[in-house]
Amino acid sequence: VSGFDRARFALELFGAVDERTRVAELIGEAELAFAIECVLEPVRTRNPATRANETLMRKVLDGSRERGDVLALAWQGEQCVGFVWTSANGPSDHTEIYLNELSLVPAMRGAGLGATLLARLEHAARLAGARAIDLDFMADNPRVRSLYERAGFTQVGVEVIGTRPEGRTVDGVSAPTQSELAAVVSHAVRMRSLCTFARPWMSRDDVEAEVASVHAQQRILVARRDGELVGLAIWRCVPSIVFGDVVCALEVLEAPPDLARVMVQALCATLPREAAARIVVTVREPSEAEVATLIALGLSVHRYKCRKALAADDA
Ligand SMILES: CC(C)(COP(=O)(O)OP(=O)(O)OC[C@H]1O[C@@H](n2cnc3c(N)ncnc32)[C@H](O)[C@@H]1OP(=O)(O)O)[C@@H](O)C(=O)NCCC(=O)NCCS
Repeated sequence: VSGFDRARFALELFGAVDERTRVAELIGEAELAFAIECVLEPVRTRNPATRANETLMRKVLDGSRERGDVLALAWQGEQCVGFVWTSANGPSDHTEIYLNELSLVPAMRGAGLGATLLARLEHAARLAGARAIDLDFMADNPRVRSLYERAGFTQVGVEVIGTRPEGRTVDGVSAPTQSELAAVVSHAVRMRSLCTFARPWMSRDDVEAEVASVHAQQRILVARRDGELVGLAIWRCVPSIVFGDVVCALEVLEAPPDLARVMVQALCATLPREAAARIVVTVREPSEAEVATLIALGLSVHRYKCRKALAADDA
C-alpha cells in the first residue's frame, strides 16, 4: 500500500470481530448519546469533580466527525457494548492512527473484548497503510497499561499538568527576534519527534512556515546563553475536556535541565493571567531529570503517551 486509505480503514474496522461482536459506524443521535456516556462514565467514576460534560463532548465529537474521524460502536446482538474513536493524522504516505477513545460498558470489561477491539484496530490500520498507532492513557487509570503493553505498545512520552506556577521574567529568556528565527527553525528540525509540528514527514520549509506562524501568534520563547540559542518553548492555549477550562499546552520544551525551570516560569510571566489556569507539558522520551524538573515546579504526571509502529522504519 503506498498511502493511507481511509475507506479501506473503515471497511476493515467494521464488521464481525468474533462470533458475538460486530463493529459498525456510529450513526444518529441515540448512538452519539451512547458514545458520550461511554467517554464520560469512566472519567466521572475516577474523578467525580471533573468538569467534563455532555455539551462539551458533543461539541468535540461533532467537530471530529466533520474532520473525518472514524467513530464506531461495538455491538452484541441489539446491544451497544463499546465505543472506538480514531483520528488519522499526517499526510497520506505517513499517516498515524490516534486512538482517542476505547471504552466498554462496565458489564463487558475484563473479558477480552478490549484486546479484541485493539487487535481489530491494528489489523485495519495496517491494511489501510497507516505507519503507527498512538494512544494516551491517564495517570489515574494505571490499570489499563497492561492491556496496551500486551498489545505491543511502548511508552514514548508523558504529559505533566498543574496549576501554572508563578511566572517571572528571566534575563536571556524572551520571544525570539526576527533574526533568531532561522536558529529556531534549525532547533525545531533537529528535535523532530520532540515537537508536535515537526513530525517526520514535515520538510524544513514546512517547519519554517509553522515557526513563522507561531511567532506571529507570539507563542515562542527562546533562552540564550553567551549569545547562543540554547532553549526553546512553543505553546498554545487549548480547552481541556478533562478540566473544562483553558490550559496552556507546551508543544515544545527543549532546554538544558537547569534552564527548563526558568523557561516555564518565564512562559507563565508572558501569558496573560486570564489566558490559562493550568499548564500542560508533553515530554517525549523524557529523561528522569527533565521530568524531575517539571515536578519540582509543582506539575504532576497526568497522562502517558504510547505508540506502536506498524512500519519497520517508523519506530
Ligand atoms: C480499557 C478497556 C477498554 C479494556 O477492555 P477489556 O475488555 O476490559 O480488557 P481485556 O479483558 O481485553 O484485557 C484486560 C485488561 O484490560 C484492562 N482493564 C480491564 N478492566 C479495566 C477497567 N475497569 N479499567 C481500566 N482498565 C481495565 C487491564 O489492563 C486488564 O489487564 P489485567 O487483567 O492485566 O489487569 C475496558 O476495561 C474499559 O472500557 N475500561 C473503562 C474505560 C477505559 O479506561 N478506557 C481506556 C482509556 S485509555
